[in-house]
Amino acid sequence: MLPEKIVIASHNAGKISEIRDLLAPFQIEVLSADELNLPDVEETGTTFRENAALKAEQLAKISGLPCLGDDSGLCVDALGGRPGVYSARYAPNRDFDKAMDMLIAELKETQNPDWSAHFSCVLCFAFPNGERHFFEGRVDGRILPQKSGTNGFGFDPVFQPEGFDKTFACFSKAEKSSISHRGRAFEKFISWLDEQ
Ligand code: IMP
Repeated sequence: MLPEKIVIASHNAGKISEIRDLLAPFQIEVLSADELNLPDVEETGTTFRENAALKAEQLAKISGLPCLGDDSGLCVDALGGRPGVYSARYAPNRDFDKAMDMLIAELKETQNPDWSAHFSCVLCFAFPNGERHFFEGRVDGRILPQKSGTNGFGFDPVFQPEGFDKTFACFSKAEKSSISHRGRAFEKFISWLDEQ
């Protein structure tokens, strides 16, 4: 049976807006952690899976509602997979404009011409009784040496997905979700929801 309400374990407005659109076809009330005054969960894990679980489990316990935790990040090959799980913290004071400049500068310094990267996303859907389910998605692409586009959030203006000649920041939300790491993880979550 489908839950009536779920809580999104995030305070990131960009992510929540994408998630609300993805869950719009379902008769589910989608609440954000902010709307319920839920605390920020410290991301002490070293993998996307651990952090997604930490967020979902803790907020499911506190709110008494099923809770969806999303942990995602940008993994750059020439930087050994960084910033990875630390993507949100790569930006000083969450200033992603600065973070993108720093990322481009770091890549130039490596003198490695291969700027391949991918976004990863792990979703954990946790219930107050401890039951949990995981769904994963990934999108491959590369980092561009200059920003372009104004949509999206985070590193979108410098990430060009494979097979396209524009960055994620030039995609509409729906277009981005049809190929993004989060969109792909959600496809799996939604097929699971459909089976309930
Ligand atoms: P967290 O999952 O809240 O720990 O944050 C993930 C971080 O990864 C965000 O703050 C962004 O820097 C980056 N990120 C994750 N998904 C995306 C995306 O779809 N576009 C751009 N940046 C993203």
